[in-house]
Amino acid sequence: MKTVAIIPAGGSGRRMGSGIPKQYLLLGGIPVLVHTLQVFQSSPVVDEIFLVVPEGDIPEVRNAIVGRYNLFKVSLIVAGGAERQDSVRNALAHLREEHGIVLVHDGVRSFVSGELIRRVVAAAEADGAVAVGVQVKDSVKEVNSAGWVIKTVTREGLWLTQTPQAFRKPLILAAYERAAADGFCGTDDASLVERMRVPVRMIPGDYDNIKVTTPEDLTLGEAIIRRFLPEKVH
Ligand code: C5P
Repeated sequence: MKTVAIIPAGGSGRRMGSGIPKQYLLLGGIPVLVHTLQVFQSSPVVDEIFLVVPEGDIPEVRNAIVGRYNLFKVSLIVAGGAERQDSVRNALAHLREEHGIVLVHDGVRSFVSGELIRRVVAAAEADGAVAVGVQVKDSVKEVNSAGWVIKTVTREGLWLTQTPQAFRKPLILAAYERAAADGFCGTDDASLVERMRVPVRMIPGDYDNIKVTTPEDLTLGEAIIRRFLPEKVH
């Protein structure tokens, strides 16, 4: 069975405020999305990549990203939808009989390591549905809309959830079908599986595995690639 990685990069990047969608901004001279794709391209446990980008970007992405950087594992480029969940669903529609494990990873999380991808796929093979995350280190408070603290929430057992997330194919297909039937929109893929009352395993991720969302993240990202990227890509 083959393992396919779906990389949603179909967002318009409104929060960055630069006009250019965040997946195309340069980190160390290379687009954020290329950094991400190179890690999956280099991973021995990933057979194929389905890339999701805004519809109008498809020809440019095919030439200036997939072609230029020789990302030959990208076998499909599909158009994104209104929400991230719609973008992932557009890619799920192209899964084939031979696909066993489906990974989903945000195109803007460039600092994922090959080692983390390997662990996530192994955990999905064993347990069916896996998310990665990091334990909350700061104090967590519930605050009302006027800015006053209601209470401090115990952080024990609280995890900030990242991607990659990985699933056995029938499970993610059923979860997406159920969410569509119920009109449910989640912020990640695992939440769709959770609502079917199927257990999702959480495995430790990496505090560096940030999503490039704001201009400050680009500055932090430059520092992370200077420290770590060569070893992460290979
Ligand atoms: O917006 P957010 O930070 O949650 O985006 C996470 C990932 O999902 C990004 O790589 C973004 O490009 C992608 N996305 C998408 N389709 C959308 C919105 C976001 O593929 N409609």
